[in-house]
Amino acid sequence: MIRNMMTTLALLLALPAAAQTGAPAPTTGEAPDQVTVHGDQPAAKFNRRLFGQFAEHLGHGIYTGIWVGKGSPIPNVDGYRRDVLDALKALRVPVIRWPGGCFADEYHWREGIGPQAGRKVKINTNWGGVTEDNRFGTNEFMDYSEMVGADAYVSGNVGNAPPFEMAEWMEYMTSPSGSSLAKERAANGRKEPWKVAMFGIGNELWGCGGNMRPEYAADVTRRYSTFLKPGGGQRVMKIASGPNVDDTNWTEVMMREAGGAFDGIGMHYYTIPFDWSHKGAATGFDEDGWARTLAKTERIDALIAGHAAIMDKYDPAKRTALLVDEWGTWYDVEPGTNPGFLYQQNSLRDALVASLNFDIFARHTDRLRGANIAQMVNVLQSILLTDGNRMVKTPTYWAFDMYKDYQDAVVLPVDVQSRWYNKNEWTLKAVSASAVRGADGTVHIGLTNVDPNRAETVTVRLAGVTGAGVTARILTAATMDAHNTFEAPDAVRPAAFTGAQLSGGTLQVTLPAKSIVMLDIR
Ligand code: AHR
Repeated sequence: MIRNMMTTLALLLALPAAAQTGAPAPTTGEAPDQVTVHGDQPAAKFNRRLFGQFAEHLGHGIYTGIWVGKGSPIPNVDGYRRDVLDALKALRVPVIRWPGGCFADEYHWREGIGPQAGRKVKINTNWGGVTEDNRFGTNEFMDYSEMVGADAYVSGNVGNAPPFEMAEWMEYMTSPSGSSLAKERAANGRKEPWKVAMFGIGNELWGCGGNMRPEYAADVTRRYSTFLKPGGGQRVMKIASGPNVDDTNWTEVMMREAGGAFDGIGMHYYTIPFDWSHKGAATGFDEDGWARTLAKTERIDALIAGHAAIMDKYDPAKRTALLVDEWGTWYDVEPGTNPGFLYQQNSLRDALVASLNFDIFARHTDRLRGANIAQMVNVLQSILLTDGNRMVKTPTYWAFDMYKDYQDAVVLPVDVQSRWYNKNEWTLKAVSASAVRGADGTVHIGLTNVDPNRAETVTVRLAGVTGAGVTARILTAATMDAHNTFEAPDAVRPAAFTGAQLSGGTLQVTLPAKSIVMLDIR
């Protein structure tokens, strides 16, 4: 589990957002908001893997969330629930990380292959102490990734398995033919190897992955990486277990001692409104709960910059990617649910958490090339919730949907001059923004108004952007905690937006309170 560490960076992060970034002290001045989109200064692409998902064996994340079994009365395709599958395909999910999380460092892949009925039944020691019968294993996950059209990001077991177990897993998945493991894969129904896009060398090695010191973790990473040899000429991106929040020493030691052994390193940052003993409710919160959640979300900007700066020292050519392979909100579980299942509702506030993250990711695409929201279905900040044969798309799903054209598009830097929004000690710019140019030339501009009480009128200056017209969508609702339920699944969903006027090189946009607007300029 993540525990905060009071390093220098932590002290810095304890300050309000304005102080963290060196921005001018907040005022209540009424200067008009202005966003400048620099279409003439294209930056690194917004890697599609920044919209990645994470599916752990945790609560109803896999079982009933993804997998219901072929005999289930819930409509399914070969055992995978159809509604979830269709929703993921519609979102063009680019990558899915599996099987954990903490679960990964106690997972033994051999227990999850072969006839499902005969698979070993274990206790899920991390998540609720429930039985895990391994019905969903390697074949099920790899086939599912292909069905979704997503890259597979498999997390290996460093914590309590020897290197040969990881090496054999890689061989089972990627070896074309000839070896015993390739034959075993074929006997289990899959003749051709799968493509493994990314492979995690353990998860949270500083915590549930083995409570290692960074020096030890660096050596272990070098050792395990040595034996990770994909078959068939596959190029698999090896991902090291990265820092917890602000633990810059972890990044320093890993880069210095083991930087050559991996292609990416994954930091984890969760938005927790209060603290670990009282995280805060997913709905029914007041404006302080709104403001603190969004302000704490924005701390990821300084975190990414801090870890990236360390990586720059050891890897100035930026060969090694930084990933945020776990991010999202972490609230108190819904009353009456298993505390080990991490089931929480998802409101308009979560959608803004997502859009603010996307804006921040866009500022770091030179180094940041992947992110995985925690988690895909029924766990933490889910994009989908299920209950029996019912499914809802959460406000977070719709935020992902509105930004999905950012995938592999060229980032256009933005300057944002905005009024400050303040509530108690929480301060952030009222307007957040990012922009990209897609392969077809369409420019997409995402705007978020975090102020829950008042609209913002924004002038968007388009430098080096030409277009004949603008179309737009908006996500907003009457209340801060508006959310979708199984009874009212469409309470929060995008609608057409007509509050943007394009004239010459300028857009005038009126952003309603607490809203996300995506503008498409063609
Ligand atoms: O996402 C839930 C848990 O959070 C993951 O299993 C772990 O990696 C992190 O602490």
